[in-house]
Amino acid sequence: MNCAFDFYYVACVKNIISFQTHAVVVSSQFFKIRFLWCLTFKTQAAAKMALNDSGVSPLKHFVLAKKKITEIFDQLLCYVTDGAAFVGETYKNPALENIATEEQLCTMEGFKTKLAVIGEVLSRRQMKVAFFGRTSNGKSTVINAMLWDKVLPSGIGHTTNCFLSVEGTDGDKAYLMTEGSEEKKNLKTVNQLAHALHMDANLDAGCLVQVFWPKGKCALLRDDLVLVDSPGTDVTTELDSWIDKFCLDADVFVLVANSESTLMNTEKHFFHKVNEKLSKPNIFILNNRWDASASEPEYMDEVRKQHMERCLNFLVDELNLMEASEAEDHIFFVSAKEALNARMNRAQGMPEYGGALAEGFQARLQEFQKFEKTFEECISQSAVKTKFEQHTIRAKQITECVKNIVDEINVSAATKRVYSMEEREDHIDRLSFVRNQLNILTDVIKKRITELTKEVENKVSSAMSDEICRLSVLVDEFCSDFHPAPSVLKIYKNELNQHIDEGMGRNLADRCSSAVNFSLQKAQQDMIENLLPLLPSGIQNQLHILVPYRKFDLSYDLNCDKLCADFQEDIEFRFSLGWSALVSRFLGHKGAHRALLGFSDKIPQSIPCTPSTTSLPALSQQNVSQEEVMVSLVTGLASVTSRTSMGVVIVGGLVWRTVGWKMIALSLGLYGLLYFYERLTWTTKAMERTFKKQFVNYATDKLQMIVSFTSANCSHQVQQEMASTFARLCQQVDITQKNLQEEIEMLTKKIEHLDNVQKGAKQLRSKASLLEGELDIFTKEYLLQHSQLRL
Ligand code: GTP
Ligand code: MG
Repeated sequence: MNCAFDFYYVACVKNIISFQTHAVVVSSQFFKIRFLWCLTFKTQAAAKMALNDSGVSPLKHFVLAKKKITEIFDQLLCYVTDGAAFVGETYKNPALENIATEEQLCTMEGFKTKLAVIGEVLSRRQMKVAFFGRTSNGKSTVINAMLWDKVLPSGIGHTTNCFLSVEGTDGDKAYLMTEGSEEKKNLKTVNQLAHALHMDANLDAGCLVQVFWPKGKCALLRDDLVLVDSPGTDVTTELDSWIDKFCLDADVFVLVANSESTLMNTEKHFFHKVNEKLSKPNIFILNNRWDASASEPEYMDEVRKQHMERCLNFLVDELNLMEASEAEDHIFFVSAKEALNARMNRAQGMPEYGGALAEGFQARLQEFQKFEKTFEECISQSAVKTKFEQHTIRAKQITECVKNIVDEINVSAATKRVYSMEEREDHIDRLSFVRNQLNILTDVIKKRITELTKEVENKVSSAMSDEICRLSVLVDEFCSDFHPAPSVLKIYKNELNQHIDEGMGRNLADRCSSAVNFSLQKAQQDMIENLLPLLPSGIQNQLHILVPYRKFDLSYDLNCDKLCADFQEDIEFRFSLGWSALVSRFLGHKGAHRALLGFSDKIPQSIPCTPSTTSLPALSQQNVSQEEVMVSLVTGLASVTSRTSMGVVIVGGLVWRTVGWKMIALSLGLYGLLYFYERLTWTTKAMERTFKKQFVNYATDKLQMIVSFTSANCSHQVQQEMASTFARLCQQVDITQKNLQEEIEMLTKKIEHLDNVQKGAKQLRSKASLLEGELDIFTKEYLLQHSQLRL
């Protein structure tokens, strides 16, 4: 590794020889070359010296481990962030109730924060070595030697008056910072601040001054290493607070002892305290100032042996840190001063021995290098473990926990999915059942309605026919003032019509309503019972609101006043043995008219039309023009007059010749007597009777005409009632179908969501497994290896 320097050294020696033996021009050119060579290699040499034989610093182990674990933590943070978002979405989605809990979300959020903090801490992780020992043992000189430059103040007497840390900076300018200040101060002030002899030194022994040294100047600092110098352990009474403040996170401790004396109790005391607070601290003992042994070579081996024994005793027996064989590798005999001088010389392109060579210099320098190498290997292994092991374990725990959470969510989603699918199947089955059942029931109910309406129609028709037969009784029951005067007669007619309306309506109601009502209620009840399973569950208990119980009253609506509006009474006095009466008696009412008036059959009788008859086509045929009636009347009268005179002449002649005039006179007397009798008995009462009789005849005809109409009307009412009940129930069945369809759609969406949740959970789980794999590899590569080495 030192071939460049060997070459340079040889060149120097050759140069001296050539300076003595050759021309000045040649030697000056050689010095020029040598100067350029020095400039080129001066900085490279410093770096190369810090590397081990393979050319790679053992400190890189820590750097690589830090890079790896930081990458894993970055991935883990991304993973947990995704996981927290996933849990958050699942928790907040109302369709996925109870799949993710608030507690799980809080846990994930907590992990996120924790990982961000750990990531931040990891990125700032450095290896830390702290140097302790009595004043003037050479702590600062050792650090300077390791840094290849006089970075920290050193000198005889009590020099370092506070803690000084040295770490690398990427810039090319060194600077320092004091506690509680962000100001970057010039490095020259380190002497003012940290040198006990300096007049401006006002820092407390427990204070820390951070020195930032360019990484370009010192390869050791490129690999996240911090060296901490301390005041002598013999000049303070605050060892405990020092330990708490500066030692708890140190990976390696170096006890710089003075080989000119021996290990002192004050140094031992400090490390006893460190050993109490930290489990198995890594301690190296440098027996410094070993150059002094060169002045007494005869005792060198014995003194070394003495120091070695005491140091071993201290590490193995007193502190119980390691086995003696291992402890031997932690004890070195060095001269920091020589190492520093040699390195500074070398760095400046000067011969590293400087002046006269002290005895055993090479061996001491090699031992110093050996210390550095052993220390680097130890600190990088130890720091990886102390700085990353706990975090690796924590990362595994977090990954495991997240895995459990996503597993729980997956299981919960799977259970809900199965349940939702079963529920959807049920709903689909129920929907098809409701549809089929409704179709079947619609046919059944339609049939039932038709039957019922027919039944009602028949019932009303027969009841009405009966009532029409009993119309005379109803009319006879009517009592009101009767008078032939048209105005009184009009009122009488109105009241009579009203009486018939009410009476007949009441009678029909008595005969039909209760039976119809019963049939209707029964039919409705059957309909409800059939449709009940198809109704929404909420309605099933509230049917009394949907189909309220009410007595169904048929409205018969006879409208007698309109029906008999055209009724024309004939209450003129008519002698029973009068001409027209006799004709009527022998020929009947129609025949008499024909005989008397000579009307042809096609001429209609004076049957008035009721308003309702407009709807009866039979009556409309009787509409005959006024002109035809008049011509018929005139013709009829002429015919009757001629026939009557002829009849009187013939009959009178015959009677006269047979019975004689006495009989004729007697007959005429009797005839007159009868006439007067009838005339006298033609009272208002008789007129009323005649009126009622005529009315009954007229109304009977009219009412018979509307029997089918009224019964159809009643059946229509029943049909309407049934249809409206069925419609209301169907409306509710539609709601059931709509609800079922909505629920099926909702469940389909829910199943989709649950599918996505399961997919997400599975993805997160596989990612967790990958991360676990990475953590295992890290543990195997960086943590277990170290344990095995230690074992
Ligand atoms: P404080 O800061 O006071 O605690 O002392 P320190 O332990 O830091 O000692 P420092 O490095 O200041 O060295 C004290 C003196 O010892 C200096 O003059 C160094 O040059 C000298 N010294 C350090 N190491 C050696 C060494 O190996 N051999 C000899 N001969 N002198 C040394
Ligand atoms: Mg010092």
